[in-house]
This record gives sequence, C-alpha cells and structure tokens, in this order.
Amino acid sequence: PRNIYLSRHGESQFNVEGKIGGDANLSERGWKYAEALPQLVKDAVGDAPLTVWHSTLKRTGQTSSHLEYPKLAWKSLDELDAGVCDGMTYEEIEKYYPEDAEARDEDKFMYRYRGGESYRDVVVRLEPIIMELERQENILIVAHQAIIRCLYAYLHALAQDDLPYLKIPLHTLICLTPRAYGCDEKRYKAPI
Ligand code: F6P
Repeated sequence: PRNIYLSRHGESQFNVEGKIGGDANLSERGWKYAEALPQLVKDAVGDAPLTVWHSTLKRTGQTSSHLEYPKLAWKSLDELDAGVCDGMTYEEIEKYYPEDAEARDEDKFMYRYRGGESYRDVVVRLEPIIMELERQENILIVAHQAIIRCLYAYLHALAQDDLPYLKIPLHTLICLTPRAYGCDEKRYKAPI
C-alpha cells in the first residue's frame, strides 16, 4: 500500500523567537533537521518512489533541499495567514489585539485573523491538495504546523474542534498508511 508522509519544516528563526507566520530562514538546528531528513526518509520509505511537495515559503524549501526526489512547491501549502498579526509573538497579539486573542481562545477553528485566515479557511484551500493526494502514490508533504494539523485531521477523520490543538512536533516524520477505515501511523523522530 502507498504511504503519505508528513513533516513540519525544520526549526526556523521565527520559531526560535516565538514569532508566528513570516518567511524566515531555518535556524542552525533547523538546518540539522534538513541534513538528517534524507536518512529519516530512507528509513521510512526504503527504495520506493517518492515525490516531495512543499510550500512556497523558504523554510519548507530549505528543509527539503537535501532530498533527492522530484519536488513540487504549492502555494496552498503555505502556513495559515495570520493577517495583521503576522510576525508577532502570542504575547504581542494579546497586548495589541486582546479581543482577538480571546475570540481565538473561544473558537480556534472558526477564528479568522484580521486580514488573514481561519483554520476553516485553510481546510477549504487544502481541498485541491487532498484531491490530488488521493490520486498519487507515495507523497511527502513538508509544510507548516497549521497545514499539517489539517491534513492529519483529514486523514485520521478527527473532529474539527480538536484539529487546531493537535500536537505535531518539529523534527518528526509522520508516516500514514491509508486503510479501509482511517490510517495506520508510524512516527520517526530525528535525533536533533
Ligand atoms: O509558530 C509556528 C506556526 O506555524 C505559526 O506560523 C502559525 O501561526 C502557528 O504555528 C499555528 O499554530 P496555532 O494555530 O496554534 O497558533
């Protein structure tokens, strides 16, 4: 059976600074993950053919840069757009947009950033990706926290309300094997 592999990008400079969104480069640690990823993928995939899909943001391209497989960049894999809050820390959002921070707490799935997106919006924009994914063989998706949460929730048929809180750690390759009902899952953690 074919597999779907999911990974967040390696740690970015914004991750280090606690800032959301943006288009930062990988941190030194993030680059270590990029360097470790080919072996992690080899452990998981073996010699089977694979295609890598990543977003158009620098951090996912950098994370994929050492992988020797066909690659495709999709704009629809870019991270949830935080609108006016792009580049802020969660503390700054609470300070400058307290009502927004509260509204997000109330309903994280439906909350839409000013000038940006909600998780619900992301689920809708991922529909073409999911359609294409269903038609493909082995695919590795290197994307972002909110994006991986949506794809993971779809593949495991998890509830919308839980989706924005799923734990998708950095530096971990998730392997999903679709079955008649749901998916089997295996995780490969990089030693970083
Ligand atoms: O902090 C990394 C990040 O990918 C941000 O770019 C993004 O806004 C956030 O995670 C999504 O997570 P949450 O919805 O929990 O804020």
